[in-house]
Amino acid sequence: MIALDQILPSLYHLQRQGRIGAIAVCASTYETVRTLADAESLHRAFPGQSFRMYPASLGQGRQPELYREAIAQLPPRQIVVVAVPDQLHHDVIVAALAADQHVCAVKPLVLAHRQAVEIAQESRRRGLLVAVEYHKRFDDRSLMARRAYREGRFGEFRLGTACLLEKWYYRNSNFQNWMTSENSDAFTYIGCHYVDLVHFITGLLPRSVSVYGIPDRFPNGREGYLWTDARVIWSNGACLNVQNALGFPDAAPGTNTQGLTMYCQGATDGALISHSDQYRGLKYCYSGPASYAEPSPDYFQYVDLGGPGLVPVGYGYRSIEAIVAAAIRVNAEGPGVLEEIDRAGIIATAANSSYNEAVIEAGRESILNGGREVVIA
Ligand SMILES: NC(=O)c1ccc[n+]([C@@H]2O[C@H](COP(=O)([O-])OP(=O)(O)OC[C@H]3O[C@@H](n4cnc5c(N)ncnc54)[C@H](O)[C@@H]3O)[C@@H](O)[C@H]2O)c1
Repeated sequence: MIALDQILPSLYHLQRQGRIGAIAVCASTYETVRTLADAESLHRAFPGQSFRMYPASLGQGRQPELYREAIAQLPPRQIVVVAVPDQLHHDVIVAALAADQHVCAVKPLVLAHRQAVEIAQESRRRGLLVAVEYHKRFDDRSLMARRAYREGRFGEFRLGTACLLEKWYYRNSNFQNWMTSENSDAFTYIGCHYVDLVHFITGLLPRSVSVYGIPDRFPNGREGYLWTDARVIWSNGACLNVQNALGFPDAAPGTNTQGLTMYCQGATDGALISHSDQYRGLKYCYSGPASYAEPSPDYFQYVDLGGPGLVPVGYGYRSIEAIVAAAIRVNAEGPGVLEEIDRAGIIATAANSSYNEAVIEAGRESILNGGREVVIA
């Protein structure tokens, strides 16, 4: 999903501009890469562009270790984009670093804090970038809030509430094969975005987590925590509540519902940050079935700027562009740049965002223990 909807088109656009060279995509089956290669949206936007496929042909069955071969084919200091299910990120990242490759991992980087620390150490030792693709950071509204908060214009964050509920129909997708109780849950999968964003805006760090999850069944009968309610306590005592689910009605407008409200305290008054991240002010009614929509012009859209093809726009594209540009910069200017990237804190890296793994790890422990509070050391 994320490869088709955001990552590959962003890379194709960078390739079209001459900023990157050849692209290869590896999945565990030929059918998966073939379907991606044949996607109509990609052909329409990027006529004549293609990628090298792993596996290259039918009849070889599932090849879950083929990514090792794909990585081994690369010259050193290219970039490996890790967009496999959450629980597989770690092995692919470690293999990429061992082969001297920069890494762009979709969130969450890994599922254990210790692994994030080890990855950060290894990336520094080798002078490589390991970036985590938290694209909400590149939404201008996040950058506006961060700047104003850090200028003191909102005072101090006190109470917050965030939600991100995906549509019910997500249950029918490949999620049912991996987003199951033993691997993940709705908070781990999508709640981490808002935990990351609160840190991104405020600079605060999470101190304890409790996650209450309701077990439910995917259509294939497997169990998942498909409804979650999390409470995160921050280093200044502030409290953020995050609700997540694969349960937003299919008939409701938009592709999901999501947003963040932060109630803050000034010297003598209250202050407020309130983002509707789903409703971006557009109401469309197409002709035909499923006619009403509230599309987001801000995350990822294709626009026609005169061709050939279409141009991807939005913070989904800008996020990938920023990470690829940072890796190119490290190659050009040397590994000293890594310290600057970590300190700037705009791109999430293994070194500057491992609080996210601490929250996920604590959240998993909490949800598996009925929602009890887990303190982050
Ligand atoms: N908003 C976001 O930042 C965002 C949104 C969606 C997904 N994601 C993340 O992206 C990752 C993938 O999610 P998705 O929604 O695209 O899921 P998906 O199930 O659509 O895609 C996962 C892909 O990984 C492939 N795969 C599985 N095992 C493999 C292996 N051993 N070798 C090679 N390929 C393998 C599968 O074939 C599948 O194509 C997850 O970590 C998810 O959390 C992030």
